[in-house]
Amino acid sequence: MIGESFYNLKIMDKFIIHKSRLKGSVKISGSKNAALPIMAATLLTDEKCVVSNVPDLMDIRTMIDILAVLGKKITFQDNVLYIESKRKKSYVAPYKLVSTMRASFCCLGPLLAKRKRAKVSLPGGCIIGVRPVDLHIKGLKELGAKIIVDKGYCIGEAKKLQGSHVYLGGVFGSSVLATANVLMAAVLTKGETTIEYAACEPEIEALTLFLKKMGAVVSGEGTPLIKVRGVQSLGGCEFKIIPDRIEAGTFIAASLATDSPLTIKSANPLHLTSIIEASRMMGANITFDEKKNIFVKPKTLKPVNLTTLPYPGFPTDLQAQFMTCLCLTKGISLITEKVYPDRFMHVAELNRMGMSIQRNGPYSIIEGKGKLFGAEVMASDLRASAALVIAGMAAEGKTELLRVYHIDRGYERIEDKLRKLGAKITREKQRKQTKDRRF
Ligand code: UD1
Repeated sequence: MIGESFYNLKIMDKFIIHKSRLKGSVKISGSKNAALPIMAATLLTDEKCVVSNVPDLMDIRTMIDILAVLGKKITFQDNVLYIESKRKKSYVAPYKLVSTMRASFCCLGPLLAKRKRAKVSLPGGCIIGVRPVDLHIKGLKELGAKIIVDKGYCIGEAKKLQGSHVYLGGVFGSSVLATANVLMAAVLTKGETTIEYAACEPEIEALTLFLKKMGAVVSGEGTPLIKVRGVQSLGGCEFKIIPDRIEAGTFIAASLATDSPLTIKSANPLHLTSIIEASRMMGANITFDEKKNIFVKPKTLKPVNLTTLPYPGFPTDLQAQFMTCLCLTKGISLITEKVYPDRFMHVAELNRMGMSIQRNGPYSIIEGKGKLFGAEVMASDLRASAALVIAGMAAEGKTELLRVYHIDRGYERIEDKLRKLGAKITREKQRKQTKDRRF
């Protein structure tokens, strides 16, 4: 039985969604997953940094709060962050903030490199899996940091860091934020560091470009072998955040699921190869122009087999949204989740909408019926919420999506963007007794 303490009276928003056809063009925001580690990297300098094209999201606001606790003065206006240093600095990132967003754990590397000590709360597990941080700790230890885990905190000291050869391959391949953490520590570490099995995600490339603008000496970003020559200090800089490839992929999925031609603006098609390939296999016609506008023209959806993998493979962050599309085919598809084998919370919700998806370990078999039916469904995490919004727009009848606070963590004004495209989606306040779990 779940005890009373699990329940909190919360005022939460819900979406009411009806079957929609979309039309027109949508502008993609800056990437959340690029912005968060770059914000953490500003801890590597006391000089001013100006970061533009930052999406206004709950996760960004959480990172602002964490940096403020750690001694930064931040102004956030019109998607631009102005980050300066206060005289009083801390090295403690508390549980209250870190537990709400795992990306805040990537303050550990910069704190150790710049302030020589760090006390960062362990983020804990979340709905999409256990999500350990062993690779982060291993990598930083190999640079010479002394790290212990005590009472839920990762406590580190780094009086003398020394460049080293760090291997970051894990059971599930490379790790994005472990690569970010070790890279950020290495740039201020004496000597040369090689990171082998580094994550190749565009967000790591963006972080490296930011560090280079600060004065870091790095090569090999975007490949599994990153080389760093440590420097003594780093300065401030100005930087523009890259477009959010996951938001772009989400709108491609929305176009496919609702059978609506869409133009996606301000995205980088080079970051979307696996997603465009998957969409083409599903029957969509996708073209670009010289301004990098992406034109998506869906046709009758075909079933496909998808496997999520680290970049440049198909992203786990789009698995749920594309599962929704596969529900609308007439045939059998298989999804293999190789990054987070437990990331299938949306399966039960899609089944409430008329599907009978079979999940077995990291596999889900989707027998598309060509139709979904509106229902009351619950958002379990950020990307699952997006999948259910798309499902709601594709489904016959009315869908009520509860707990949409998850979606506010990672999509900037999603319902406004969708409404401008013609979606029938409204946000309503919901006063309800719900389980209070933080993911
Ligand atoms: C980042 C993204 C997240 C995305 C994920 C995978 C940000 C802010 N978040 O998260 O949206 O879903 O990449 O593309 O950028 N692992 C270990 N040990 C570790 C670290 C990770 O075993 O120390 C495992 C994880 O459990 C997972 C796999 O490695 O199975 C990949 O995770 P990772 O790349 O680290 O994800 P994040 O960087 O946390």
